Amino acid sequence: LDNGVARVPPMGWNSWNTFGCNINETLIRQMADALVSTGMRDLGYQHVVVDDCWFNPNRDSAGNLQGDPTRFPSGMRALGDYLHARNLKFGLYQVPVDRTCAQYFGGYPGATGSQGHEAQDARQFAAWGVDYLKYDWCSPNGSINDQVTTFARMRDALAATGRPIVYSINPNSIHAKTGPLRDWSDVANLWRTTEDITNAWDTGQTNGYPMGIQNIVNVTVPLAAYARPGGFNDPDMLEVGRGGMSDTEMRSHFALWAMLAAPLIAGNDVRSMTSATQAILKNQNLIAINQDSLALQANQVSGDSTRRVLAKRLANDDVAVAVALFNQSGSTSTISTTAAAIGKTGSSFTLRDAWTNATSDTTGAITATVPAHGTAVYRVSGGGSAPPPSAGTLVSGASGK
Ligand code: DGJ
Repeated sequence: LDNGVARVPPMGWNSWNTFGCNINETLIRQMADALVSTGMRDLGYQHVVVDDCWFNPNRDSAGNLQGDPTRFPSGMRALGDYLHARNLKFGLYQVPVDRTCAQYFGGYPGATGSQGHEAQDARQFAAWGVDYLKYDWCSPNGSINDQVTTFARMRDALAATGRPIVYSINPNSIHAKTGPLRDWSDVANLWRTTEDITNAWDTGQTNGYPMGIQNIVNVTVPLAAYARPGGFNDPDMLEVGRGGMSDTEMRSHFALWAMLAAPLIAGNDVRSMTSATQAILKNQNLIAINQDSLALQANQVSGDSTRRVLAKRLANDDVAVAVALFNQSGSTSTISTTAAAIGKTGSSFTLRDAWTNATSDTTGAITATVPAHGTAVYRVSGGGSAPPPSAGTLVSGASGK
């Protein structure tokens, strides 16, 4: 979406994965403070997104949305001010049609969806200082055409406020799973590609609830052509630091999200992170690959769904190459590609290992010995590069889930 924001994938933190409905303004402020004190904000994690359950289940007498008076007694504008004073950005959750997922499934009262209130709600968000709207389709009803029309209405309402607001949609919540069926870049800056993520490597789902890391990668890799500055596939928020996976798997998760030009939205409790979690979330080589100004998603250049070679064209002729092993048998494997295969021209190159920061020289061979569920990533410099792939052509297998 050409609205001036999200020219590279947004980074930040979201309340849902760890806290669900158990949120309040003190908690959100503590997370904001932790993003600053851990150095995460300065590495790019700027958006603090308050997910489901922030709102009063009743609109006011003028029909305006209101914050929950118990959870957010200082009001939503005050929370926005708190974040902005710390050079952070304010993200908020809302639904188009009647009820949020917590209202449908969690017994949370109310039905405060924005349908029919788009202009009023967008103005309210802008007045609160909202910089990022997560708009989540949680209705059991709706065809893809209904979704397009309804999501576009909020797109236009946000634009009419004049405030730059990142627009993140979820066409894949619970009931209506249509995301990969179309290129949503005319509607939103970010669009979810699957059902909800969970902190597991593989749940055996193809696009049902809940999705493991490998399951989401399977759906999202073929959608590379949709990604561009201002519009990104969203394979959901990070599960790094939430248990349920080995360190190797956590590292793979982050490396693959970086390569897929995914929004890097941490979902763990950033007030209490192990050093291993911090080392992953704060890996500057991977963040730089994710935040590269060309804003392209990695394409799969070889391999299959158990061993992938992904290449992400970067600015200044560099290419990041990730060799990923999704071997369910649990054994280590050696995976190889070449500089030519990932789009490099020339005859001598430098590889920088994103995890160790070590560099090595090669005349073309790129080989990694990768543990089961592991991902090695190199930044390949030197020589030149073929032109970046043009957006618009989906590789086979992208649609029809
Ligand atoms: C479904 C979304 O996919 C989640 O990320 C979260 O926003 C929940 N809804 C909240 O109810």
